[in-house]
Amino acid sequence: MFWARVLAATSLLALALVPPIAALPKVSRTGRYLYTEDGNRFFIKGIAYQTQGLIVSGPDNPLNAPSTFVDNLADGAACTRDLPFFQKLGINAIRAYAANSSLDHDSCMSTLTGAGIYVILDLTLPLNGSIDTTLPAWGTNTLDQYLRTIDAFEKYDNVLAYNIGNEAITPSATQSAPFIMAAARDIRAYLNSISSSALVAYASIDGSSDFVDNVADFLACDRSADSPTASIDLFGLNNYEWCGNASITTFDGLNSRFADYGVAAYFSEFGSENCSPNPRVWTEIPVMFNSSMTDVWSGGCAFSYFPDISRGHQFGMATPSADNSTISTNADFDNLAAQFNAVTFVNSPAKASVTTIAPAACPTANASAWPVSETLPPTPNDAACACLANALSCVFQPTNPDYMVLVGELIGIACGLLGQMGGTCADISASGETGVYGTVGMCDPTIRLSYIFSQYYEASHRAPTACSFSGNATINSGAGAEGASAAVTSCIPSPSAVFTPSPPPVLIPVAPTSSTNHSGSTSGGASTGGSGMRAPLSARGILAGIICVAAGCMGGGMLWTFA
Ligand SMILES: *[C@@H]1O[C@H](CO)[C@@H](O)[C@H](O)[C@H]1NC(C)=O
Ligand SMILES: *[C@@H]1O[C@H](CO)[C@@H](O)[C@H](O)[C@H]1NC(C)=O
Ligand SMILES: *[C@@H]1O[C@H](CO)[C@@H](O)[C@H](O)[C@H]1NC(C)=O
Ligand SMILES: *[C@@H]1O[C@H](CO)[C@@H](O)[C@H](O)[C@H]1NC(C)=O
Ligand SMILES: *[C@@H]1O[C@H](CO)[C@@H](O)[C@H](O)[C@H]1NC(C)=O
Ligand SMILES: *[C@@H]1O[C@H](CO)[C@@H](O)[C@H](O)[C@H]1NC(C)=O
Ligand SMILES: *[C@@H]1O[C@H](CO)[C@@H](O)[C@H](O)[C@H]1NC(C)=O
Ligand SMILES: *[C@@H]1O[C@H](CO)[C@@H](O)[C@H](O)[C@H]1NC(C)=O
Repeated sequence: MFWARVLAATSLLALALVPPIAALPKVSRTGRYLYTEDGNRFFIKGIAYQTQGLIVSGPDNPLNAPSTFVDNLADGAACTRDLPFFQKLGINAIRAYAANSSLDHDSCMSTLTGAGIYVILDLTLPLNGSIDTTLPAWGTNTLDQYLRTIDAFEKYDNVLAYNIGNEAITPSATQSAPFIMAAARDIRAYLNSISSSALVAYASIDGSSDFVDNVADFLACDRSADSPTASIDLFGLNNYEWCGNASITTFDGLNSRFADYGVAAYFSEFGSENCSPNPRVWTEIPVMFNSSMTDVWSGGCAFSYFPDISRGHQFGMATPSADNSTISTNADFDNLAAQFNAVTFVNSPAKASVTTIAPAACPTANASAWPVSETLPPTPNDAACACLANALSCVFQPTNPDYMVLVGELIGIACGLLGQMGGTCADISASGETGVYGTVGMCDPTIRLSYIFSQYYEASHRAPTACSFSGNATINSGAGAEGASAAVTSCIPSPSAVFTPSPPPVLIPVAPTSSTNHSGSTSGGASTGGSGMRAPLSARGILAGIICVAAGCMGGGMLWTFA
């Protein structure tokens, strides 16, 4: 009886705490429009929901981007606190910029879904958690981070889209475009394989019309000659063109440029500061949701809910108290709420009447304006890279867990030494300009480094002193005698293969150690590869090495080159 009562009370409590919530209708793309399952058009009426990270300067952060992040979707109490403000704004979506796949997001996601709010989630993390702007790669480490995040979020019914990058392609550095496109291709294939309806999206920085049009077209152009074909579903433009009480013709130029765009598009950020009148009046909203724009655009996300200072201006509208228990809002917030609540969605065209627009030809490569190859890098292959890692004769041995920058320095040094012996680092390089992708360029940066260590060690007739790199490398006695080049051929027989990625390997925590153990498993990917291959490392570390070279630094006494 006692137990029965307790059980009854518990289940009542459970019912009270978790009221049955009708799943949010899935949103899918038909041509350039988004529709909910009932056939109504779907527009994003959203806000950026991301605590601003701290900028920590250093060799791994040449662009001075935020280096730390808060996973706001893992803070259930904060989501509950913020829900009434979301409801005041009348939003149906938030954009979150960073999530840690090992944290629990149930509370926040359930709060949001219960209120009819979808989530647009960036798969990227700061620094080495993103495809690098100036030295891009599409490697197993980044792919696996993206897949882990998808795996953590796929159980929720309110994930609208996954962003595979934010402002990675810039007007002065376009070479990441093929890597972003390859990421979109592989993430699309993975989502298909798990029957996910989430959209694949990208959020672009604004710029000259040539630049923006090239980026938008590149990510959705005619790749029917490729197998598989690939396109993003949702192009986001971080657009701050509208300033204050601007003219309703402000977006006319943009609208006509996108008049024939084949996939859905929205403003992934909007809301200029430092305009007149101030505070912001958000008069772009009645224009954005008017029929003059809805034939091209599917809404946007106002920037930003949380305080966010950019170029000296405060974009935040809702400030948490010191103890995070309450929120205070400003006039920007009230004005935004008034404009958002006045929006009526234009429910046309009818889904059945949509004629899809054929994708445009891919932008023509142009040495000055668009130095970008149409050839995409391959799908990063965990198993192939793990096989290689285990077969390498001289492997990177990190002595502390924060070895991201060190990997960059060591690649500079090792490539310099290898160059002195007539070798090159071409196998670990990848160029979005030429479309030439070295066979090992898709592997985790630690494996790329070990590959160069091994080539140098082998070229030095395996003299033990040639596998030290001041204590950063160790001989892998478990490797056979075949050598690094032969190992590449046997482990990576199809270097340009494009395929549907498998669920990512289980992440083994980084545990730098001075002991060697070469009996590790050969399956399961980079992070579980040979013992010398600890956790995934990133392009950021390599970047540090390259910047040094670009500035005239010497690696191991020699200027080295990737060519
Ligand atoms: C994710 O959260 C776990 C658990 O708190 C933490 O150990 C890990 O460092 C976090 N990962 C990132 C990338 O912040
Ligand atoms: C915005 O501009 C319109 C037309 O130029 C004007 O009538 C209106 O007063 C302006 N509003 C503000 C708040 O400046
Ligand atoms: C809405 O669209 C109509 C038809 O294109 C146009 O005449 C009107 O000026 C637009 N209004 C706004 C606020 O953009
Ligand atoms: C308030 O929340 C922010 C964002 O999650 C967090 O960084 C900060 O440490 C919190 N402050 C307190 C006092 O809990
Ligand atoms: C490259 O693009 C720029 C800007 O669109 C154009 O002015 C230039 O003529 C182009 N160059 C070539 C070789 O096509
Ligand atoms: C590893 O390489 C770095 C960079 O060259 C060097 O400073 C360090 O002394 C080396 N050895 C160890 C054990 O980290
Ligand atoms: C070496 O790795 C193997 C396989 O992972 C494991 O069984 C063994 O206990 C390890 N040995 C040491 C000394 O860590
Ligand atoms: C970034 O570098 C850190 C080590 O500094 C590593 O733990 C993490 O896994 C790396 N992330 C990726 C995606 O490479």
